[in-house]
Amino acid sequence: MNEPIQTSASIRSFYEREGWFLSPDILHEGVIARVTERIEALSAQEGPEVVYEKGTRTVRGIHGCHLFDDVCRRLVRLPALLGLAEELLGEPVYVYQFKVNMKQPGEGAAWPWHQDFAFWNREDGMPADKAVNIAVLLDDVHQENGPLRIIPGSHRQGLIDSETDGTPGGSGGDWRKHVSADLEHTVPDKRAEDLAQELGTTLVTGRAGSLYAFHPTIVHASSNNLSPDRRALLLVTYNAVSNAPERLTRPEFLVSRDTTPLATVGTNTL
Ligand code: SIN
Ligand code: MN
Repeated sequence: MNEPIQTSASIRSFYEREGWFLSPDILHEGVIARVTERIEALSAQEGPEVVYEKGTRTVRGIHGCHLFDDVCRRLVRLPALLGLAEELLGEPVYVYQFKVNMKQPGEGAAWPWHQDFAFWNREDGMPADKAVNIAVLLDDVHQENGPLRIIPGSHRQGLIDSETDGTPGGSGGDWRKHVSADLEHTVPDKRAEDLAQELGTTLVTGRAGSLYAFHPTIVHASSNNLSPDRRALLLVTYNAVSNAPERLTRPEFLVSRDTTPLATVGTNTL
């Protein structure tokens, strides 16, 4: 069971050691309902930022909504998300990436073992792993609907050699290989399984509104959603302003261009 850490002073040392953190804050159900309603409406529109499961019209994910939707624009400024990111990174931040992975019932496909920093460093040239993912559970997430599985402490391995060549732009510029089940820059299964054996794994589960932070270099994966329950997971990546990459070749809905430090809005409401 994932117990929240209540002592503010211990948050950073827990995160630095384990590479993840379950926030004691839980977003109100009205906030989650509002965000979910916007994500469902935006996902029904046509546009390159909407990605489908292979060979289907089932929405796999949607990207960059904080750039074009007012509810999402405000969400990324709520203290529960932005304040936590600032606390963990210790410096001003901006939103580098925003996505919602929908994991539709019975259809949502797996994500192989990987480290997010492999994409940000190898594709965009992000200099250091001075970024953090804040995950917002939009649905109740349990063992059966394809929760994210992370390997605590695996971020301390640094970047692990990928099965691809690891050269900049290794996917030949095809950003779809960064959002599909055929993922570029994976961690080899054997390496991930050895790490999981040694360090154990943690499932990112909980009720809708729960918030987790996890490290750019932590090894993680998730399985197919064979259950009747959707598992929509919203992920905001905050990057330190001092760590903005310069190689801006991927579309803006995957890599935000505006690196102005964000300011929090007053309360955790929309
Ligand atoms: C991710 O690794 O970025 C997301 C995986 C998932 O949605 O399960
Ligand atoms: Mn990931």
